[in-house]
Amino acid sequence: MKTILVTGGAGFIGSHTTLELLNAGYNVVVMDNLRNSKEEALRRVEDLTGKSVTFHKVDLLDVEGMTRLFTEYSFDGVIHFAGLKAVGESVENPLLYYQNNLIGTINLCDVMGKASVKNMVFSSSATVYGDPQTNPIPEDSPVTFVNPYGFTKLNIEYMLRDLQRAEPEWNIASLRYFNPVGAHKSGEIGEDPSGIPNNLMPFITQVAVGKREKLNVFGGDYPTPDGTAIRDYIHVVDLSVGHLKALEKLETDPGMVTYNLGTGKGSSVLDLIKAFEKATGIEINYEITDRRPGDAVQCYADPTKAENELGWRAERDLETMCRDAWNWQKKNPDGFPSDRV
Ligand code: NAD
Ligand code: UFG
Repeated sequence: MKTILVTGGAGFIGSHTTLELLNAGYNVVVMDNLRNSKEEALRRVEDLTGKSVTFHKVDLLDVEGMTRLFTEYSFDGVIHFAGLKAVGESVENPLLYYQNNLIGTINLCDVMGKASVKNMVFSSSATVYGDPQTNPIPEDSPVTFVNPYGFTKLNIEYMLRDLQRAEPEWNIASLRYFNPVGAHKSGEIGEDPSGIPNNLMPFITQVAVGKREKLNVFGGDYPTPDGTAIRDYIHVVDLSVGHLKALEKLETDPGMVTYNLGTGKGSSVLDLIKAFEKATGIEINYEITDRRPGDAVQCYADPTKAENELGWRAERDLETMCRDAWNWQKKNPDGFPSDRV
């Protein structure tokens, strides 16, 4: 049985991927500092799968702690989700992001290399495409960064590419996620943002549950059919399955590979609101306001490469994403309960 280290495995995408890994028969060790997550997510993953997850509260900046993990276990590969992801926070505190995401990943690669564990799946982001000039976006489109968070993702990609060139025995899949939303269909695990959500779907579900009065739709004058910005929303379970396909790809010794994980379908903010209302029967109170600085007009994937090379394709539609996100929010209006101490 293969053993995978999942960094950031208590988080939104990490917990869903841990569940898929367990169901597929992998042994999973999760390493997370719980800065943006709760251990309760993993307890629920255990309940849902009937399998156990080994958890270690270790930070990417704690080289000794990580080294101990790599001594204790014999990992076949690492899925590296751990990182900070709030764009606004990264603008206010760039050094925190450089330290946590960049230095943290350098530490992880160093420890992995010393332990001769050289298979990695990395969480990159469609943020590397900035405000793309053409859509759908293939992987060889121009890349850039517009904030410190995006800088860390792009530079980790460059760093991993250089590492693999220098040491060709490394196999690395960099996965560029579009907009992950939704939740496991049980409603037991899901996205649990702290404070006011930055992202659209958790904001919509909090309006629906009565925690927020109304949604501000950022910009109604974009050059799009309904004037609101377009994104590629992807169900988190589809995204998680993509990681298992990427792990399988590493077994074929591919070197450094990069894949878009998106549906290939662009939806506007108003499309998402309508799909939510249709899926749940709940009307969303919203108002069109100014554009949010730094937002792209439209951004949706060309997922052909992942389809052809990984045999992966997103299957769940917008209404399923909305229904599952709502099921999670309804069952857990205040997110996960605080961890027992
Ligand atoms: P998340 O915040 O829910 O999960 C990240 C996890 O990493 C959290 O559990 C957090 O506690 C942990 N973590 C952060 N810094 C750490 C450190 N120094 N040491 C150990 N653990 C640490 O976020 P998510 O939405 O699940 O995102 C997972 C990854 O995917 C991130 O790298 C994120 O940048 C990337 N990503 C997310 C999105 C998105 O919209 N959710 C889009 C593109 C890429
Ligand atoms: N939006 C609103 N109101 C809100 C929140 C968002 O109208 O309250 C709009 C945004 O303006 C945007 C769309 O909804 O047009 C989606 O916004 P999100 O914040 O949900 O997602 P983004 O595409 O802006 O950003 C996400 C991640 C980033 C990542 C980027 C590209 O949050 O970390 O995708 O992968 F960099």
